[in-house]
This record gives sequence, structure tokens and C-alpha cells, in this order.
Amino acid sequence: MYNACITGLGFYVPDTIVTNHDLEKLMDTNDDWITERSGIKQRRFFTEGKDTVASMGARASEIALQRAGLTAQDIDFIIFATLSPDYYFPGSGVLLQRELPFRNIGALDVRTQCTGFIYALSIADQFIKSGMYQNILVVGSEIQSNILECSTRNRDFAVLFGDGAGAVVVQRAKEGDTSRILSTHLHSEGKYAEDLILEHPSSRIKNRHDPNIIAEGRHLPFMRGNAVFKHAVTRFPEAIMEALDANKLQISDIDMLVPHQANLRISKAVQEKLGLPDEKVYNNIDRYGNTTAATIPIALTELWEMDKLKKGDLVCLAAFGSGFTWASALIRW
Ligand code: UT7
Repeated sequence: MYNACITGLGFYVPDTIVTNHDLEKLMDTNDDWITERSGIKQRRFFTEGKDTVASMGARASEIALQRAGLTAQDIDFIIFATLSPDYYFPGSGVLLQRELPFRNIGALDVRTQCTGFIYALSIADQFIKSGMYQNILVVGSEIQSNILECSTRNRDFAVLFGDGAGAVVVQRAKEGDTSRILSTHLHSEGKYAEDLILEHPSSRIKNRHDPNIIAEGRHLPFMRGNAVFKHAVTRFPEAIMEALDANKLQISDIDMLVPHQANLRISKAVQEKLGLPDEKVYNNIDRYGNTTAATIPIALTELWEMDKLKKGDLVCLAAFGSGFTWASALIRW
């Protein structure tokens, strides 16, 4: 059996910065509420005609490939995590495949929302462990600013989400190299599917384009914020402990926890439960908001760029979100 390790990382965020003060002009909200309840100060919104989910994934991928010392031609498989694909079908993975000079390799879309990147990383890990592929590109990319409605009726959702993309190259580890993905742990509990949902357009009804859907605001995302919050603060530590137990490691062994960036209060609660010091938990939600499948690869790339991921470090990834799904990964850097 082979081991898989991350050898290149990159991210791309759109140019347009939208601050909490900008949102104040569009809906009944304020900087204090958003900062206190979520930790967010600003987020990025895409530029129509310039950014697409696939193109942003491509920009992030180019950087990740270059840092891994590879070209698109070297990649054997694409795994693309997004809840906001360019099209209903085909998936954004194939659109990425045509953006860069890849061979005619397989391209798989992953649809598990906030845990999308960890699910995708887990799939990459299994393909490399089995020997099927040697070089896999794992991408998380989201355009969510046009799913939201910047209005008071949608304000609980609208202030939280942003656009962005991150990518990593996962490669077969060289023989004798200690760097590797140690394990990944994936969960779901579908009975809560409707607690965080974007229902329309839906294949469950005959007239998917019924104008009443838009008139009644049923095309907007819906979230039971409190319920999601409560589940998240339980499931995050559970998933992290599961990963540590599976590898006979302890909380004190963690060098860096990279939690999915949904809410700074969730990250702080998880940190407190685990008793981790500030310098071992990375948060960047203040600058990007929640970028769903892109949050973890963006955060990992920033850490790498700041030289905060050292060879031999134990890095823990954890996420919780719509589905509900939750997941963790432990990486020996
Ligand atoms: O990655 C996907 C996973 N998503 C999450 O993990 C999100 C989890 N949930 C949360 O982060 C929080 O529940 C929220 C940030 C969404 C909301 O924070 P909260 O502390 O749970 O607030 P709340 O929903 O209990 O609302 C408190 C008040 C309400 O007013 P009343 O009923 O007390 O008068 C809301 O109407 O805040 C009001 N409110 C707002 N006020 C100003 C809701 N949204 C806003 C807003 N600006 N944007």
C-alpha cells in the first residue's frame, strides 16, 4: 500500500471586497452584530464575466501545481468539491479539466458542502493508497454571493458567506518519506437535511421554474442557525477525537487545527473544548467569511505561505455542515 501527501497548495479569491459596512447599506444589519455573532469583517464577491467556479478553481490549481513542481499533464485525476457548480450538469470538475492542459483524465464532483474538501481529500487518499493514481488535484471552489439575497429577509445567511477557491496536489509519497495523510473520517446524518438547505430548483416538483418559488423566496437558502450551531460544536470535537484515537494520538500532539470556517464562535468553542492554545488553531473567517468547500484549502495555503506548516507537524482538518455531514483528517506534514 502507498501513502499520500500534499505537495502543493494554492488559492484564489475574487478582487471585490465586501465589508460589513457595505452590507449595512443593503439590509437591516450592522458591523457589531456580524462581528460579534460570526467573527466576519469582510468577504469576497465574484465578478461576473471574469470569475466562475471552474475558473477560480483553475487559478488556485495553477499555483498548487507550480508549487508541487508539476504541470497539468502530470495529473491523473481531478476531484472538485462545490455546492455552487457552474451548471446543474455537467459538473465543475469537467469544466476545470478544459481550463488547463490536462490529459483526458477522470473528473469527479463532490457534493457534501462544508465537508466537501475533506471528503474529496479522503477519496484522493484512497485512490493513491490503492495504487490507482499517483497525482491527484483536489479543488474546493464556491460562488455563493449570487445564491444569497442581500436583503433583510435573507440577512442571517447573507452576512455569512463569500466566494473563493483553494486547491491542493495530492501525490504518492516517496518511499521512506514520513509525510502522509494518516487517516480521514467521514459522517452524515440525513435526517437534518432540511436544516441547512437550498431547495430550488428541485427535481421533486414538475414545474421547476414555477414563478411562485421566487415570489415566495423559496429559491433562497434556509438555515436553522441555532440547530446547526449546536450540532457543530458537538460534532467537531467528536470528529477530531475520532481521528486522534484512530492513530493513537492525543490532543497535545496536534500542531495545527484547521477547522472549517463557518463561525468564529464555533471554532472558539471547539478550541476551548479541546483545550488548544490560540497558536494551534487557524482562523481566517474575518477576511473571507464562510467559503464552504474552499475554506480549508484556502486556510491551509495561507498557513503554508506563512511557513507555519513544518515537516513532521501533525495537522488536523475538521468540518461540519449541510447534510448534516461532518469529517476530519489527520496529516503528518
Ligand atoms: O458552514 C455551514 C454551517 N453553518 C453554520 O455553522 C452556521 C451556524 N449558525 C450560526 O453561525 C449562528 O446561528 C448565526 C450566526 C447564523 C446566528 O447567530 P445566533 O447567535 O444563533 O443568532 P440568532 O439566529 O439567535 O438571532 C439573534 C437575533 C434575531 O433577532 P431576535 O429574534 O432576537 O429579535 C435575528 O433576527 O439576531 C437577528 N439577526 C440579525 N441581526 C442583524 C439575524 N441575522 C442578523 C443580521 N444582522 N445579519
